[in-house]
Amino acid sequence: MPPTERLLSDETLDAIRAHFPRYPNRRAVVLPALHVVNEYLGCVPIRAVVEVADLLGLAPAEVQDTLSFYGFFKQDAPSGRVRIWVCRSLSCAALGGEDLLDYLCEKLGVQPGETTADGRVTLEVAECLGACDFAPAILVGTTLHKNMTREKIDALVASLEDSREDDLS
Ligand code: FES
Repeated sequence: MPPTERLLSDETLDAIRAHFPRYPNRRAVVLPALHVVNEYLGCVPIRAVVEVADLLGLAPAEVQDTLSFYGFFKQDAPSGRVRIWVCRSLSCAALGGEDLLDYLCEKLGVQPGETTADGRVTLEVAECLGACDFAPAILVGTTLHKNMTREKIDALVASLEDSREDDLS
């Protein structure tokens, strides 16, 4: 039987190895390693979990446990180029967060957890983003958007549609 082709590229493995000197042990590298894989693949399939575990000298279950603890990593398919996280915790929900989520679903044509047909945007729900004073809040990639309204959502979605591919990364 031919050997199974590796999923993670040499570049990805090197990027993970670059974290080794920064952490006290290999177990502590699991989370940064998952982020590296996610950066390269847009998700962390189970095969990548096994390969990361192999690289770190851990059991695949240990890596999978860390992955499962966070709601951040997708395993089934790559995320869109941009992930929009809508806070659904108390302050935001009380100030219209649920309505904004419904509005975003309608505008993007997806449900939470899904990616638009053009692969640009994945819509997600999040617990408190730590911006309760600015509720309702959403996170677009790594940028926090405060005191969101339907009008701001309109502008945001329009800007994403106008963005060139390079701008979305
Ligand atoms: S409840 Fe939404 S940011 Fe805290």
